[in-house]
Amino acid sequence: MSEDVSDDWPGVVHREGRTLTRVSMAPDSSRSGPVSRRGGGVFLNPAMSGSRTRSVLLLDYAMESGMLGEGTVYALDGLAASGIRARRWLNELPANKAERLDVAISDLDKNSLSWAMRSHDEFPPVHGKGSLKSSVGDLRKVVLAHGRHWVDIDPFGSPLPFLDVSLQSLARSGVIEVSATDTAALTGSSRGAMLRRYGSRVRTDGLAHDSALRVMMGNLARTAARHDRAIEPLLSIWDSHHLRVSSRVVRSKEGANLMEEGLGWRVHSPTEAEVECSVESGLHPELSMDSLPMTCLLPLSFPVNRRDSRVSGPLWVGSLGDQGAMHSMTEQKAMRMCVAEYEEGDIAGWSKRDFEMEKRRVLRSVRNIESEGSVIDAAHHILVDDLSSWLGVGSPPSPTLMVEELRKLGYRASLAHYGKPSFKTDASWDDIVEVSLGHQPPM
Ligand SMILES: C[S@@+](CC[C@H](N)C(=O)[O-])C[C@H]1O[C@@H](n2cnc3c(N)ncnc32)[C@H](O)[C@@H]1O
Repeated sequence: MSEDVSDDWPGVVHREGRTLTRVSMAPDSSRSGPVSRRGGGVFLNPAMSGSRTRSVLLLDYAMESGMLGEGTVYALDGLAASGIRARRWLNELPANKAERLDVAISDLDKNSLSWAMRSHDEFPPVHGKGSLKSSVGDLRKVVLAHGRHWVDIDPFGSPLPFLDVSLQSLARSGVIEVSATDTAALTGSSRGAMLRRYGSRVRTDGLAHDSALRVMMGNLARTAARHDRAIEPLLSIWDSHHLRVSSRVVRSKEGANLMEEGLGWRVHSPTEAEVECSVESGLHPELSMDSLPMTCLLPLSFPVNRRDSRVSGPLWVGSLGDQGAMHSMTEQKAMRMCVAEYEEGDIAGWSKRDFEMEKRRVLRSVRNIESEGSVIDAAHHILVDDLSSWLGVGSPPSPTLMVEELRKLGYRASLAHYGKPSFKTDASWDDIVEVSLGHQPPM
């Protein structure tokens, strides 16, 4: 491998989570958003570190839960670049799980994989367990070489070209994690691209990121169904410039036949008839209809006018995550598995403050996820800015206060891991309005 490494090897030592790697230039971990595709060396975007931390935690949960079987777990980091994601799985999972991992990294870029393997040689997993190999080539070929329990697709842009083959390659029960960075398409601001690629429309409002996650999950469900498979969503997150959905996929013709039951529409400012249908379909809690909610979900069978600007979809109307998986993403677990302790004379030249900043990034990556797990199937995702405008009150209610009050009324409620201040709840719309107005009556 080493002879393939480009001239700028050894570059510098960088740390992400508890894992060391070599990169051509130290990345600026304080920035978010996309980074340019480099003019040499190896690609590593620090803005995706949160997604990689969650990937470590999710793999740990999936192995613990038994959904990947009890034997060797074949995992593929299909668009691996520096290989940091796969190397974090191996290094940060405990020894008893890492020893079951047979991990492959693949990429079209031979040079990237050389950096990855050489970094792996220099900084092997601390417990010395698990195996890593690399495979240069097009993911669409590499992925079909044999079955996998875990496939990660993290492309520049849309993951769609890789979905079909990756789903086909999954074991009877496996997990797929899919990122997308074609955000203009996914949030509906590039309408043509959204319709062409994903076959959906998304209303460009505060919930556009949530709708985009649902559109991606819907595409995953449809593609899986074509291969007699059904999805069971584990986690869906929008983070800075990208989204990521993770789902268990099981081989089941019966499950695949039911795929359309998970699909539908989101309607902004719904009519009475639309809200009634949503309630009857189990997609919305009962309400008095004295005041209508800001949005509701509708089943695919509901006759919507697809050109109606209130409508987003088709999209996934089922749960965007799994309670168990999300409950497992605690700050304590993230600290235990993914945070390194400061040591004098650190090999990456990090100061105490650098360690502290990395710890904060790790903790931020799981913020609210554990508690959101309790309401991940709930109908309401409420942005407090939208709520105050909708109700005509001066300033948005505190989401924390809303959650506390709704819980006191016996509902499930939690802050959401979302880019805008928001909460999720299974409360009736009447009580959401009452609690909100109780804190600030209309102007
Ligand atoms: C966004 S980067 C991956 C980042 C990486 N997963 C991480 O966590 O740092 C996308 C990678 O996909 C690779 N790539 C693009 N098209 C590919 C294909 N058809 N098959 C394999 N690799 C491909 C690129 O060379 C690039 O390294």
